[in-house]
Amino acid sequence: MKRTAVKDLLMAEAPKDEIIVKGWVRTKRDSKTFSFIELNDGSTINNIQVIVDDNSPAYENIKKLSTGSSCAVKGKLVESPGKGQKWEVHGTEIEIYGLAGSDYPLQKKGHSKEFLREIAHLRPRTNLYSAAFRVRSRLAYSVHQFFQERGFFYVNTPIITASDCEGAGELFRVSTLNAEKPPIQEGKADFSKDFFAKQTYLSVSGQLEGETFATALSNIYTFGPTFRAENSNTARHAAEFWMIEPEIAFADLDENMDVAEAFVKHMVKDALENCKDDLSFFSKFVDKELFSRLENIVENEFARVSYREAVELLQKTDKKFEYSVDFGTDLQTEHERWLAEEHFKKPVFVYNYPDSIKPFYMRKNEDGETVAAVDLLVPGVGELIGGSQREERMDVLLKNLEAHDIPLEEYQWYVDTRKYGSVPHSGFGLGFERMIMFVTGLQNIRDVIPFPRTPGNCEY
Ligand code: 4AD
Ligand code: MG
Repeated sequence: MKRTAVKDLLMAEAPKDEIIVKGWVRTKRDSKTFSFIELNDGSTINNIQVIVDDNSPAYENIKKLSTGSSCAVKGKLVESPGKGQKWEVHGTEIEIYGLAGSDYPLQKKGHSKEFLREIAHLRPRTNLYSAAFRVRSRLAYSVHQFFQERGFFYVNTPIITASDCEGAGELFRVSTLNAEKPPIQEGKADFSKDFFAKQTYLSVSGQLEGETFATALSNIYTFGPTFRAENSNTARHAAEFWMIEPEIAFADLDENMDVAEAFVKHMVKDALENCKDDLSFFSKFVDKELFSRLENIVENEFARVSYREAVELLQKTDKKFEYSVDFGTDLQTEHERWLAEEHFKKPVFVYNYPDSIKPFYMRKNEDGETVAAVDLLVPGVGELIGGSQREERMDVLLKNLEAHDIPLEEYQWYVDTRKYGSVPHSGFGLGFERMIMFVTGLQNIRDVIPFPRTPGNCEY
């Protein structure tokens, strides 16, 4: 007989004479004439209650079970007389898979997230983390659903790369050279002897390779791991994170924003429809405003404001910031949060940034000082999306490469897309973990990625 998932048992329409349910014991209680356990198998945040009478053959085994133990229960699904649940299982046979001793770290509820981060291998067995990772799974599905339904093709861009898309120098080196004794040429490590006969890195973005596919398949998206050796120990940065990067041929910056807005709304709507139990948990224990915040996303248009206007708003407000704002400086997190949380009170696109603070590939505007860049700032998280219209004019692109000190030889393949049948095109990158933070209300990126990698931290 096959096991039935707890989720399906809890949604049953009628009692069942014989079922098998398997999972891990969350709690156990004994009374004089019976014992009962709360069993969870991760299919839902909810547990199923299993009751065994002292005259049942299963009684001997249920007595042995402790919190964290795993077992299979055969029994009847019956209507529960107790409050809070419709169904319970009356066990007739229990098979023990593995016991967990009194040193099992998750004996009781209410451990701090800091403590649970230190046992990342066990934390998915808690309500909070199982909920976060079920939401993560559903959001991944809805990423593909959104793009596939709109005719975008999924492209797998390389993880090992020789280029630095963002030009921020936050690259992790990939090398098989002997770190203690590398071959030396003119006083420096000789990378011509390295595995790829050149210097290579983990990708900080799949965009440049994505662009080559957008100039062939028109609409594409990537969805993969991204690596940045950014030494910023914040609650919003991870050294390894996942990014979704659509690239849209023939689209300008406005169309880019339209797609980004529809994309974010689609994911929020999908989570509201398909992650009800988990989101209810988050709204109870993590963020009381969760549902109203998410509904506000689906129902209202996002704001759109130019960088110049945003700077003016920031200069005009009475709010005191740690960093001052001037045209030409990058917005700090405190500025981004003020714009989204206090001024607009909803997601806001900020577009047309000064070219001096943006990478080489962004399209120069007519004013000569800004580029067609866009960031989406959302309440609670700050920057969720970064994107731009791309520079499709070859002469301007060549000048940009030079201005950024980027050797043309290494980017000839990229320039070729402008040399042969160049088209206007745009795209953006959405940080997947930041999206999960936004949907769950969790405030730390370490709580929405299974095994977080941050400066000084690479457990497992
Ligand atoms: O703004 P970014 O750096 O943009 C790019 O990488 C472009 N190539 C995207 C494109 O146009 N195709 O990164 C995009 C998003 C950010 O808005 C943020 O949500 C997320 O990726 N992100 C991070 N998330 C977690 N940890 C980090 N260290 C992140 N760095 C960026
Ligand atoms: Mg950015």
